[in-house]
Amino acid sequence: MPRPLYVARPIMPDEGDFQRMASEVWKSRILSNGGPFHQRLEAALADRLGVSTAMLFNNGTIALLAALKMFDLPPGSEVITTPLTFAATAHAITWNGLEPVFADVDPETLTLSPDAVEKAITDKTSAILAVHVYGTVCDLDALQAIATRHGLRLIYDSAHVFGTTVNGRGIGTFGDASVFSFHATKLFHTLEGGMITTGRSADAETIYFLRNFGIKNEEEVVSVGINGKMNELQAIVGLLNLPLVEAEQAERRRLRATYCGFLADLPGIGLPPEQPGVVHSEQYFPIVVDETVFGRSRDDLYDALKRIGIYARKYFHPICTDFEPYRGRPIVTTRNVAHVETVKRRVLCLPFHSGVEAEDVADIEKVFRGEVG
Ligand SMILES: Cc1ncc(COP(=O)(O)O)c(C=O)c1O
Repeated sequence: MPRPLYVARPIMPDEGDFQRMASEVWKSRILSNGGPFHQRLEAALADRLGVSTAMLFNNGTIALLAALKMFDLPPGSEVITTPLTFAATAHAITWNGLEPVFADVDPETLTLSPDAVEKAITDKTSAILAVHVYGTVCDLDALQAIATRHGLRLIYDSAHVFGTTVNGRGIGTFGDASVFSFHATKLFHTLEGGMITTGRSADAETIYFLRNFGIKNEEEVVSVGINGKMNELQAIVGLLNLPLVEAEQAERRRLRATYCGFLADLPGIGLPPEQPGVVHSEQYFPIVVDETVFGRSRDDLYDALKRIGIYARKYFHPICTDFEPYRGRPIVTTRNVAHVETVKRRVLCLPFHSGVEAEDVADIEKVFRGEVG
């Protein structure tokens, strides 16, 4: 693969197919507002993800905003979330006039720790916004048990788990709602895009209004909706990309096995967890570098890879509590020091897509073995 080599590379639909479908849009002049391609994609995704409600959005962040809005959470109430995520997760809470409360991650999965969540609950808590980070599934049973026991809403940021199933059940049916991102960096993308899914068909109408300014008909506006609509050209890209996802996932699965093959021998390199019963999305391949054992730091490896044109990513470092709007906020933990503060300095996502070739992997292995860089 020509350098630079990045962590993500989008799948691309056939250009001719795109132009053929786009010419129908030119003829019909139906550009947005739930046009025929939008409807087809929504139906195809409901089927693919095994969910009762699947509502497309123009991006994942707006979908997150709308998902939180769905539940009329009390203004100023607290939503417990993870700091080890993309900034949009915390921002969606803040944009809703709610307070993000950050809780620690589980050392094994790096997803929200149920024990830390339990400890973070106050009489102002109204919801949990958990993230299936990197494609690793959260502790679904423990989080649901906590949410049920305390009467909290449970929303999942599912940006990294397109197509994941848990014991055959679609990930988008867990909790009260799940939010996907179809950004260009994601396994399945629509250039920009997103989706809210739930396991209840009754939610479709509420989400429909939230996506479209709350407009019910020409004379009635029934909720404080936003403009979350996906346009027809994005929907065409989605329809053409959907059949390409499986082959891309298969390539990434092979790459995962190859990476694990040489990294498993290296003391101090932690591999992503295997989760029985989970069909993995293959979104990211994160490793955790324990410098005290491995002898070199995450940053050292990152720099060495960069010198040969391989751009790994320190996802997610800085974490949300390092960012200006949330700086200084505590991270609720059951440990002496929040694990996320350690792991943010150790985690590194390697290039993970079908464009990574054998010679790239060989170069990456050399860096890890100290033969290059
Ligand atoms: C965990 C997570 N949440 C939310 C988002 C936001 O999605 P979007 O870029 O589609 O707005 C992203 C990525 O982009 C993400 O990685």
